[in-house]
Amino acid sequence: MAEQKSIILSGMRPTGQLHIGHLSVLENWAALQNDFTCFYMIADWHALTSDYDDTRRLADYRRTMLLDWLAAGLDPGKASLFVQSHVKAHAELTLLLGMNVPLSWLERVPTYKDQIQQFAKQGKDLNTYGFLGYPLLMAADILLYRANLVPVGEDQGAHLEFSRELVRRFHHLYQTDVFPEPLPKYAKVASLPGTDGRKMSKSYHNDISLCAGTKEIAEKVHSMITDPARIKKTDPGHPDVCIVYQYQIIYNETEEAEIREACSAGQIGCVECKKKLSAILDAKLAPIRERRENYAQEPERLEEILREGDDNANRAAEETMVLVRRAMQI
Ligand code: TRP
Ligand code: SF4
Repeated sequence: MAEQKSIILSGMRPTGQLHIGHLSVLENWAALQNDFTCFYMIADWHALTSDYDDTRRLADYRRTMLLDWLAAGLDPGKASLFVQSHVKAHAELTLLLGMNVPLSWLERVPTYKDQIQQFAKQGKDLNTYGFLGYPLLMAADILLYRANLVPVGEDQGAHLEFSRELVRRFHHLYQTDVFPEPLPKYAKVASLPGTDGRKMSKSYHNDISLCAGTKEIAEKVHSMITDPARIKKTDPGHPDVCIVYQYQIIYNETEEAEIREACSAGQIGCVECKKKLSAILDAKLAPIRERRENYAQEPERLEEILREGDDNANRAAEETMVLVRRAMQI
């Protein structure tokens, strides 16, 4: 009998247009779809844990996210792409697990109190049941598919640990063995700064969108902070303090060393250096843009992709729920 493939689940909250910082994450997801049974989820219920007060753009963001995913190379023939809120079992499992999860486990998740404070500064109250339950909903997402591996950023490590503890508690309480203990699968993702050196974020306007055109890319690259001490082209530059150079390291492996040398020796101007980077980013994003445009012209195909993904997810989820309900006598 063929060995069963490991199951992978991951998700993103649909909070707006993705940018090139997300690209390495999606490339990693795309690589995994060849070897594993993959479920990739648009986590719209998770988006509500912080954006509950403005839901007007949620439908738009769901669609944008699907387009960005397909454009970046996720293959609906290989992976199931689905929407969290289309699989109601996420809510049922969250409710059932919520009966026995100690409140203290939720409160001690390291980012919890921190984020409440961060959001409070922006005038937003996250002292809600939903926000407290964020890790629980995420655990339910994972356990519902009995996922073995969860590709996430390192910032999600505590949430994964929480999921594993929940599994052990469930098995102990109901004397059963339903779920694998899910392990995080960290990929080495290059941390890409925004064009101004801060963390890349749409809200800072320092991002390069996944669907940016040639002109927009050139403008964004032009606006990047370079070595401020450099005035003339012949001034020796310091690539280590330059944002453009950080991008060259990631996207221009073949020329990066050469650029470093030329910059330090005052032999390449920032304008030329930026032109090289723009051209490379444009070449990188062109096929993504093209796929995005093609898919965008086929709304029925998009609906069909989600319908299939939702169906696959619902089927897998229901199999798990049968076991869960039996274990809990419900
Ligand atoms: N919390 C994740 C993030 O912010 C998104 C997410 C929701 C998720 N549910 C998930 C990731 C389940 C992995 C598995 O990145
Ligand atoms: Fe940065 Fe390139 Fe200018 Fe050097 S030449 S400071 S690496 S933009």
